[in-house]
Amino acid sequence: MKFPDLRSFLKALEERDELLRVPQELSPRYEAASAIRMSARRSGKAVLLEHISGYRVPVVGNLLGSNRRLALSLGVKEEDIADAYLKGRNNPVKPRIVDSAPVQETVLKGNIDILKAMPVLTHSQKDAGPYLTCAFVVAKDPETGVRGLGIHRIQIKGKDRVDIFLGSPPLSDFLARADAAGSPMEIAIVSGPDPVTYFASPQAAPPGVDKYDIAGGLAGAPLELVRCKSVDVEVPAHAEFVLEGRTIPRRREEEGPFGESTGYYLTYNNPVAVIEVITHRRDPVYHALAPFGPEEPVLQAPRMQTDTLVWLQGIVPPVRQVHSPALGVVYVQIDKKSDDEPAAIIRELFARPAAPYAKLIVVVDADVDITDPGEIAWALGSRVRPDRDITIKGDLPGLIIDPSTTGSEEVTERSQLRTRTAKVGIDATKPLAELDKFEKIDQPAEVNEKVARMLGLL
Ligand SMILES: Cc1cc2nc3c(=O)[nH]c(=O)nc-3n(C[C@H](O)[C@H](O)[C@H](O)COP(=O)(O)O)c2cc1C
Repeated sequence: MKFPDLRSFLKALEERDELLRVPQELSPRYEAASAIRMSARRSGKAVLLEHISGYRVPVVGNLLGSNRRLALSLGVKEEDIADAYLKGRNNPVKPRIVDSAPVQETVLKGNIDILKAMPVLTHSQKDAGPYLTCAFVVAKDPETGVRGLGIHRIQIKGKDRVDIFLGSPPLSDFLARADAAGSPMEIAIVSGPDPVTYFASPQAAPPGVDKYDIAGGLAGAPLELVRCKSVDVEVPAHAEFVLEGRTIPRRREEEGPFGESTGYYLTYNNPVAVIEVITHRRDPVYHALAPFGPEEPVLQAPRMQTDTLVWLQGIVPPVRQVHSPALGVVYVQIDKKSDDEPAAIIRELFARPAAPYAKLIVVVDADVDITDPGEIAWALGSRVRPDRDITIKGDLPGLIIDPSTTGSEEVTERSQLRTRTAKVGIDATKPLAELDKFEKIDQPAEVNEKVARMLGLL
């Protein structure tokens, strides 16, 4: 693997001036999160907080907060990220089990105190307490033994207690079945894996597909795993921290409020687990993600953009690109061959259970840069006839972390937490019969090329 662990990636980031060191002492309560947010916004770099009050463990944030750093972790150019993701996902590589592992250099058992071992940050003003924001939870299907994992927000509720927002499969599905049998679910919580495994962990995987295999596919080499000390779960051997424990069967407690990636505080009733063992590397680094920052869009892009694009192209082939600038908003670019195609895109996205995040859909032509908010506004302002081009439909699957959704929570057959919402689709494409009226002004292409060369822009 190019970067077998977080620390080798941090070294590479530092060599490329992609890592900002913050030496000042910061409290784990708000100050560290504020420093990650501000430094990330100002510098665009990953941020290493070297001195957290009361700890000898540094904190890294905004790790994959840019496509530049994601591309570096995958060993590809920025423009090839989507292809690399599809290639990696479609060519999974099985992990290898090793007998001894850096993540088990230190093993803590008995009198567990999570906050003593790791500087878990309290992020936003009204958060109920410290939260792990980018750790992934690993568990096994209680019937088939198939492994599953995903990033889930985790509130530290007590010295050895965590409350986990298990709102999406496969974990929510495993838990529902463990609870039905009245059994605890064995879990491992992994913090600070190598960057590719981190990137793979929240991606969409069909039932039964192991995301460790996807991580191996993306890295082009098998991931090294080690068996946990007290539960039947395997974890990346080179991660920084692992918390091992068991859920309390059928127990639900209030979890939150927590400032979510949608930018709002949300509270749920969620399962509780007791941590029995903590393992970590010598001189560990704690990995945090600042919610509602630049990193989530990078982690969510494969699911919301690349997967959606591949699926849409199977139905409406002239679709060119999909861009989601914020949860709930999806832009689709099409080189349309028929005036019916934008409506078909909107209809399909409305109906897709796997696309609750597509609440506001805008379809634009190939001459509109869908990553440029000004160009989208231009298309909306000049190509839409509202009485003809806007479709609204009620009672569709909504995103649970969208506070505007109106329906009550519901659980799908894979134990996905959903709500209901209305959706709007806007066809901002030009009618094929009126293309001449909508020609975008420009200079001749050869002149642009010559001038770009003269100005040293090519
Ligand atoms: C930063 C981040 C935080 C997330 N937090 C949660 C969470 O708190 N609860 C949850 O159910 N899903 C959360 N997710 C989504 C899950 O990780 C993701 O849906 C799950 O791994 C999907 O697995 P599947 O598509 O294989 O079913 C989060 C994703 C990201 C990128």
